[in-house]
Amino acid sequence: MPAERQLDVYLLPALVEPAELAGKTAVVIDVLRATTTVIHALACGATQVLPCLEVEETLETAAACLLRGESAIRGGERGGRQIPGFELGNSPAEYSRQVVGGKTVVFTTTNGTRAMLRCRQARRVLIGAFVNFSAVCRELGGESRIALVCAGTDGHVTREDTLLAGAIASDLAREGSWRLNDQAEIAADSWQTAVRLMTDRPLGILLRGSRGGRNLIDIGQENDVDLAAQIDKFDIVPELDLLAWRIR
Ligand code: MLT
Repeated sequence: MPAERQLDVYLLPALVEPAELAGKTAVVIDVLRATTTVIHALACGATQVLPCLEVEETLETAAACLLRGESAIRGGERGGRQIPGFELGNSPAEYSRQVVGGKTVVFTTTNGTRAMLRCRQARRVLIGAFVNFSAVCRELGGESRIALVCAGTDGHVTREDTLLAGAIASDLAREGSWRLNDQAEIAADSWQTAVRLMTDRPLGILLRGSRGGRNLIDIGQENDVDLAAQIDKFDIVPELDLLAWRIR
């Protein structure tokens, strides 16, 4: 009988200590919108995404790229809105091939890039969203110790991240024997309920009612909810290189 594998969900980064992730493959999840946007950027030909915690660090990192002769562009948000002086905000729609193709994206967001930093002691760090759901599940199929780390919003658990964590947990649990922590069970239950609701309401409608969805509606970026709800739009799994601190 194959050994039991462990899959843990953390509904917020603060619910896991970095050292607990040692030896595990972590997936950072920020459906609305950081991880969705990173996946769009790389799928549209950005050469790499450099995640930064602070605005100042983003400006310095981009300046250093330019000094080295790299073509770099600054993207991200504070309060959901584009940061003054940055070329791009945090809307996946902005990260088109014409804009980011062949360029380094230096990127900072309020919660998503922070969640990445929380995973710095993991063995591998993957970037997950609904737009690359099946590719992430396939990549995780070969792993035996997995942590799905939800970014949440400003310290609050969010439904959109919980749903994706639950969708991944449910998909993996169909194959082989997995031990799930309680947060993984909660997320999977939540996804099963959503699947029933989705017979007459698409995922985009469910996400509109989430905390992140409501925030985007409030700032006039409702269209991003639909972009984030496009399950399997891309077949790539970006990975954060923990030594170089870049996502490719
Ligand atoms: C974040 O990282 O806090 C989010 O991606 C916020 C946003 O939707 O812009």
